[in-house]
Amino acid sequence: MQPAKIAPRDRLIVALDLPSVAAAEAMIETLGDSVSFYKIGYQLGYAGGLPLAKQLASRGKKIFLDLKMHDIGNTVARGVESVAALGATFLTVHAYPQTMKAAVEARAGTSLKILAVTVLTSYDDSDLHAAGYRLNVSDLVEARARQAQALGIDGIVSSPEEAAALRRIVGDQIHLVTPGIRPAGSATGDQKRIMTPARAIAAGADYLVVGRPVVEAADPKAAAEAIHAEISQALGA
Ligand code: C5P
Repeated sequence: MQPAKIAPRDRLIVALDLPSVAAAEAMIETLGDSVSFYKIGYQLGYAGGLPLAKQLASRGKKIFLDLKMHDIGNTVARGVESVAALGATFLTVHAYPQTMKAAVEARAGTSLKILAVTVLTSYDDSDLHAAGYRLNVSDLVEARARQAQALGIDGIVSSPEEAAALRRIVGDQIHLVTPGIRPAGSATGDQKRIMTPARAIAAGADYLVVGRPVVEAADPKAAAEAIHAEISQALGA
């Protein structure tokens, strides 16, 4: 699990934030060999995306299921077993100790890796306080990152701005997966804390999750290839 051993072309994860399996299949067809790793979240997942994930995995694509699980340990464990059986590579869970422990134990012996979401990036200190927490965002992110590492979590999802600080906390044995990526010149949309692919890699990100700059591009394949070129250059590969 040494991040340095990740194939450069596997570092781009394209978010299939699309409303239907038909739309997703058309995008996958367009992207062809340019993209090997896809993220499926709530929108597509609840619209037929789970059978699609299984089919894509059997066709050699890597799948990140962004399901952000959180429930009692037994329920999480059974859900993780089902996700592993789909052939997914990454699954997100919320970074609560019970949830992370159950997920890590349930993925043992499979190729599924568990990513922890520390604090949702839409939360600020006042949102945490309203939810009953006393810690501020940065302290809770750090505490949960340490717990994630101690519990054997495989990776952490973070904004690229947090990547360098997280890397110092968790060392290089945990994957850092960062959304909020915008190639120079692309529209920011609703993302506020953004970085270019090259800067995110330099900050310590292992995998970059990119949605709209690829799937809404006039030429999605060219957009993906441009990101690959930027990643390779940043890696000195
Ligand atoms: O279109 P865009 O590149 O902004 O998509 C980023 C993807 O990463 C979306 O699927 C979004 O839900 C996800 N994500 C994010 N910020 C987080 C966690 C996940 O943008 N903190």
